[in-house]
Amino acid sequence: MNWTVRLTINGEPRTLALDDPRVTLLDLLRERLHLTGTKKGCDRGQCGACTVLVDGRRINSCLTLAVSLDGAAVTTIEGLAQGDQLHPVQEAFIAHDALQCGFCTPGQIMSAVGLINEGQAGADPERVREGMSGNLCRCSAYVGIVEAVLDAQATLTDKTERAA
Ligand code: FES
Ligand code: FES
Repeated sequence: MNWTVRLTINGEPRTLALDDPRVTLLDLLRERLHLTGTKKGCDRGQCGACTVLVDGRRINSCLTLAVSLDGAAVTTIEGLAQGDQLHPVQEAFIAHDALQCGFCTPGQIMSAVGLINEGQAGADPERVREGMSGNLCRCSAYVGIVEAVLDAQATLTDKTERAA
C-alpha cells in the first residue's frame, strides 16, 4: 500500500508516494530527495539539527511524519538563498563567525529564521538565547550565533520598514 503526500518543497510542488506512513520528514528530505543540508543529530527531538520551516514555522523534522503535512510548504536550508544572494541570516552567520564544525548550522539558521518570523527575538540577547535553546551546538559557537540572530533581525526589520 502507498500513501501519497503533496508538498511544496523549496517552492517546488512535489507529489510523493510513500510505502510506509511512518517516514519522517527528515528521512524523506535526506534519503529520498537528497536534500542533505538538513542534518540528523539525535533523531529524537533533542538537538534541533533537523529544523526546517513548515508554512513558515520551525519544526523538528525528525519528529514529524511526512504524511501529516499533506498540502504544506516546506523550506530547507537549500531553499533559503535567492540564487547567489544569501538570506540575511546566512550572511549574518558568516559575518559573526557563528559556526565551527558547521554540523548544527543549518538547523540553527532555520531556527533563527523561524524565530525572526515569529517576532519572538526582540533586540534582547536573553530572548534570542531562550528562543534558540532547542538548537544545540557542540562547538559552543553560541556567542556568535546570538550576535548573528540579532544582526539579521535588525537587517530584516530595517528592510521591512523601508519597504512599508
Ligand atoms: S535530529 Fe531532530 S532534534 Fe535532533
Ligand atoms: S558548529 Fe559545530 S556543532 Fe555547532
